[in-house]
Amino acid sequence: MKKMMCLVLGLLIIGSFAFAGGGAQQSTSSQAALIGLAMPETHVERWVQDGANLKAEAEAKGYRAEVAFGNADQNQQNQQIDSFLTNGAKLLIIGSVNEGVISAVANAARDNAIVIAYDRLITGSGDYNYYITFDNFKVGQFQGMGIEAGLDLKNATSANPKYITLFAGSPTDNNAFYFFDGAMDILNPYIDAGVLNVVGPYPRTSVDRSAFMQIATENWMPNIAKARMENLLSNAAANVTLDAVLAPNDTLARAILEACDADAKYNGKLPVVSGQDAEVASVQSIKDGRQYMTVFKDTRALARGAIILADALLKGQTPNVPGARLDTTTYNTGVKTVQSYLLEPVIVTRDNYQQILITSGAIDASLIR
Ligand code: BGC
Repeated sequence: MKKMMCLVLGLLIIGSFAFAGGGAQQSTSSQAALIGLAMPETHVERWVQDGANLKAEAEAKGYRAEVAFGNADQNQQNQQIDSFLTNGAKLLIIGSVNEGVISAVANAARDNAIVIAYDRLITGSGDYNYYITFDNFKVGQFQGMGIEAGLDLKNATSANPKYITLFAGSPTDNNAFYFFDGAMDILNPYIDAGVLNVVGPYPRTSVDRSAFMQIATENWMPNIAKARMENLLSNAAANVTLDAVLAPNDTLARAILEACDADAKYNGKLPVVSGQDAEVASVQSIKDGRQYMTVFKDTRALARGAIILADALLKGQTPNVPGARLDTTTYNTGVKTVQSYLLEPVIVTRDNYQQILITSGAIDASLIR
């Protein structure tokens, strides 16, 4: 009897695949709504994983899903979004390149497709209502705290001050302001007390936009950060030894460390460098005693949360994203405040990377030597 049931079930499954393949009759899967997944770039490792995780989570819930990477080029991403719409996408999850995405978001609204801003707020648009991300100010605070611990700032004196230089992320990415302001929230009191000196431009917060632009890194490009660090080392920082560098993410942290490697002054005594994303190469660097810290943002949880949100919205239900904090007041696009779901970041150093990243399965043990 059991065997019979299996056979019948098997035939049913084969049958539904045959229909889907032949297109003669619609199977459940070809009727499933399409979710378009627009990710900004691939030069920062996490987005490749975000794309894959989102697709897998969407398909596990029975949706069809297409993913595209914008190559840090908003025109390219807008074309990708438009083609999702042409293909009939009912919902779009967008990690945007920059504010130029708003014309594509307006096209989505025209087609009644729901838009969820993913990780990066889409500013300047009133055409969407939902945003899912991490607590980005806290990410920055963790970077500041990492530097505070690495330099033992609590015991530093103005007679023997420490020296830091500051880098920020892309000025086209709203997150970059949050990261920077979070870090400066921790570091400014030490700067005010004269125990920490800034070498190079010093925007006290991102509100000082002209100084911020001098430390910002367009499109988060590592070659830009490396060139700026080389320039600092041979100019503003030529006559001091830097104790720390505020780096906004791992990709840029490693570029900055490469510039330090080429300067004999830092042989065997690299500055304390912050990061973010827990990229494999940076976790290796932390293990090797080079990069000081990173911030782990579990993008598997972000992708899962985004698809739970998408699923509820497509079904017209009230969303409930487990593990996320709902914030209905903070994130304003400049046109409206969007309903935001915030996940928690985790600070990672040499002391806890094993437990937070390896034991938890976030990074495969075999990838770290
Ligand atoms: C993300 C970071 C990432 C950066 C560069 C930011 O919007 O939050 O995780 O490192 O973009 O891709």
